[in-house]
Amino acid sequence: MKFITALFLLCAATTASANPFPDGNAQAGQKIFEKYDCNQCHNKIMGGDGNKIFTRFDRKRNSPDGLIEQIGMCSGNVNAHFTTKETQDLAAYLNIFYKFK
Ligand code: HEC
Repeated sequence: MKFITALFLLCAATTASANPFPDGNAQAGQKIFEKYDCNQCHNKIMGGDGNKIFTRFDRKRNSPDGLIEQIGMCSGNVNAHFTTKETQDLAAYLNIFYKFK
């Protein structure tokens, strides 16, 4: 019985924390990312594939909150003022790389 309870709790916990950006839409986020050419600098920094900045071993952001913060900082780089929803969309898209749970 204890085992069953533990299993149930484990499943419940996994479902609850499966998506750190539940309000974000990854496809919408990708469109925003491409529209603002977000990788224009990252491409240069990484010498080619800008997406690698999100998966490099010494990447700067290692939490969902940190990712949100960085999107806020980088939005200034493209002169954008993203809404909360747009920020969530971008985060959901970038989480394809970050894989935060
Ligand atoms: C003007 C150049 C520039 C533009 C445009 C830009 N960024 Fe960045 N971005 C940077 C720099 C510089 C860093 C930090 C690199 C470092 O510290 O090594 C960075 C880092 C990041 C990181 C963190 C990577 C890590 O190490 O975890 C994220 C996420 C990010 N940018 C998202 C975006 C998004 C989203 C956009 C488009 C809205 C964007 N950036 C546009 C320059 C830019």
